Amino acid sequence: MKVAMIGTGYVGLVSAACFSEFGINVTCVDRIDEKIRGLIEGHIPIYEPGLDALVENNTRSGRLTFTTDLKDAVSKADIVMLAVGTPSRRGDGHADLSYVWAAAEEVAESINNYTVIVTKSTVPVGTGEKISQIIKRMRPDANFDVVSNPEFLREGSAIDDFLRPDRVVVGLDSDRAKELMSALYRPLFIRETPIIFTDTKTAELIKYAANTFLATKISFINEIANLCEVLGANIQDVAKGIGLDGRIGEKFLNAGPGFGGSCFPKDTRALVRIAEDNNTPSHIVNAVVKVNEDRKAQMSGRIVAACDGSIDGKSIAVLGVTFKPNTDDIRESPSLDIIRDLVVRGANVKVYDPEGMEEAKSIIDDVTWCSTAYEAMVDANVVTIITEWNEFRALDLKRIKLLLKEPILVDFRNIYRPEEMSEEGFYYYSIGRPDVLPKTEK
Ligand code: UGA
Repeated sequence: MKVAMIGTGYVGLVSAACFSEFGINVTCVDRIDEKIRGLIEGHIPIYEPGLDALVENNTRSGRLTFTTDLKDAVSKADIVMLAVGTPSRRGDGHADLSYVWAAAEEVAESINNYTVIVTKSTVPVGTGEKISQIIKRMRPDANFDVVSNPEFLREGSAIDDFLRPDRVVVGLDSDRAKELMSALYRPLFIRETPIIFTDTKTAELIKYAANTFLATKISFINEIANLCEVLGANIQDVAKGIGLDGRIGEKFLNAGPGFGGSCFPKDTRALVRIAEDNNTPSHIVNAVVKVNEDRKAQMSGRIVAACDGSIDGKSIAVLGVTFKPNTDDIRESPSLDIIRDLVVRGANVKVYDPEGMEEAKSIIDDVTWCSTAYEAMVDANVVTIITEWNEFRALDLKRIKLLLKEPILVDFRNIYRPEEMSEEGFYYYSIGRPDVLPKTEK
């Protein structure tokens, strides 16, 4: 079986590498010549643990290849996967499908024999149908089916999510396509991964419903964290207390600075639009979006409060710019809003992140970029942890105390224990848990 993967972004590259790991021949297609040349030479354009080794092994075995020649790859493929970007359209929250339509047209021109065309990108309900219409219009002679096969992988653990998924969702309307898709996922089938076959529209909606539900859990727990702060309760115990109820589940109940990344913000906004366009407004998802936007905007105020109400002229160490650990992705990261606010309020901001600084440098000005967490803390009035990278979990607290002007730590990811921080002599402010003073001052 031969697969052509159109688009070598996150989903495209990871999926292609993993399918080739299953033993399938995959050709990755991208129109950006430089990207393809880089991939052929073994340069992986994104940071994702394990991806470089997987790409290298499968490239060496010849199962994974890269090209800019879409026509050639598509004409030889049994399955063509569309994994092009669907960013938020400017101004209105709709997913921008221009790349999808352009890819569908190019694919239409190139298919030969019976071909299954699969959407891997997150696309609004009905997109599969429209792709089908485009191809039929351009190539009335073509023999094809369109399938929706959304991806549920997370950045930072994408390989594991792909190779050991909770489920696979496949939306289709033809037995012939079902046969091919079953063969494609055979290695997972053997491992007893649930594979859910639905119609195309349902599969498209499952993707949005999954992401918005997870985002809802996060906005919900963030609101409960606010309540904990005013009531003097502890959000981590609340999350555990509700999460152990199997109907609720423990995952995605970590309170924090709000969700970011290339998926939740975009997909929640898109679902709001889809619901409105179909005269079925989603009040819940609307609120999720609003709660998250407000939250990101409010976070810098907590740092100001920790500095007795003013940060003008003060020095602030910021640890973390990526929207989560184990990625170099900074898209819609809460850290960006926080850093910008701090700069506007007159602070001297010193930033460190293990992987995200290259990208961040191109969009953030007026900060000092540091090469270690400790360097950022030299003579700072306060240190703030915004992304929970592992290397921030075991910082040398004694060293930090010597570096900082004042022992103030603001932890937006709750990775330290308040009692321990108090013992170590810190003013420690976290999310949804009581603030603590240095033990000596109690
Ligand atoms: C998300 C979904 O988790 C994947 O299943 C999906 O495939 C992917 O979007 C996508 O649509 O492509 P991802 O954006 O990589 O994956 O990252 P997540 O781990 O879901 O985190 C998203 C944001 O939520 C991060 O900013 C993270 O810090 C935040 N988050 C997550 C919390 O604040 N609390 C939590 O408990 C969990």
